[in-house]
Amino acid sequence: MVYVEMIDVKYKTDLKNVDWAEMKTTLQQDKFDNGRSPEQLKTSFKNSFATCIAYIDNRIIGTARVLSDGVCNAYIVDIWTLSSFRHKGIARTMVQTLLSRLKGQHVYLFTDDAVDFYKKLVHIGGNKPPI
Ligand SMILES: CC(C)(COP(=O)(O)OP(=O)(O)OC[C@H]1O[C@@H](n2cnc3c(N)ncnc32)[C@H](O)[C@@H]1OP(=O)(O)O)[C@@H](O)C(=O)NCCC(=O)NCCS
Repeated sequence: MVYVEMIDVKYKTDLKNVDWAEMKTTLQQDKFDNGRSPEQLKTSFKNSFATCIAYIDNRIIGTARVLSDGVCNAYIVDIWTLSSFRHKGIARTMVQTLLSRLKGQHVYLFTDDAVDFYKKLVHIGGNKPPI
């Protein structure tokens, strides 16, 4: 018998009805809180060029956003998947969703310990490597 895990992840690219306090609490519990208040999280997401938030049963389980000049340079930040849902392709889908909005742009990111994760995503989409 083969057991196949089915999870119903919804990816939203708008910020309607986001519970910023829930995002803050979940990030804190998952030890990926960088000190922003719920209001600051809201401001940073609202001021982004594009965002993607992953949900299961209406609970936030992943975030991704990108800053961009809209023409040639973009910077990906806040890529996070809730620990219990990692290695299921969720961050890949979120990054793919962002990259689809960044065609032809140079995409930058900064990472300490997720180098191999990003290396696997380098070939997605028609984006240019950082210069
Ligand atoms: C890095 C992170 C976002 C990956 O999320 P995820 O949803 O588990 O990633 P995915 O399942 O979409 O993985 C995509 C690919 O990267 C690989 N990968 C995932 N996490 C990895 C890691 N930490 N190191 C190396 N490769 C990794 C996966 O195996 C997968 O490759 P595959 O398709 O060949 O199997 C997640 O581990 C996380 O939230 N970490 C803490 C926050 C963080 O460090 N964010 C990055 C800040 S720059």
